Amino acid sequence: MSLVKNADNINRHEFLKKLGFAGSALAAVYFAGHLQSCTNDRVSPEPTNLTLDLTDPANSALKSNGGYVIKDGVVIARSNTGAYIAATLTCSHEGKNEIMYQTDHFYCTAHGAKYDNAGKGLNSEGKKGIRVYTTSLIDSILTITA
Ligand code: FES
Repeated sequence: MSLVKNADNINRHEFLKKLGFAGSALAAVYFAGHLQSCTNDRVSPEPTNLTLDLTDPANSALKSNGGYVIKDGVVIARSNTGAYIAATLTCSHEGKNEIMYQTDHFYCTAHGAKYDNAGKGLNSEGKKGIRVYTTSLIDSILTITA
């Protein structure tokens, strides 16, 4: 896979040189491309009226404190205090979509970032915090909004 990537980079580099890009102009093209890919990699969709029916067996994990489900890029959990909370699936450390809920905090399985129930980072990997969302419960319908 890295061989393919390197071949792609060489081709792009030679292509840009043929277009007349050199030195700092060439670096600017690479830098702009890197920023674009970082932005795309790290943006998870914001929930717009994401709903869960808590009577649906698919959401039964939310009947117990510490349980969680993942839907549409959002981790929805029942916290250690019984509150319904939600956060993005995308970790702020390196953008992996590996957030889960663990007992009383959000946790990333990639490198171990930890975030409290309000999204505040609890260790160096999680120091940037994580995006959390608002939840509201009416009857058995839980709604998550950005
Ligand atoms: S990407 Fe989540 S801890 Fe590194």
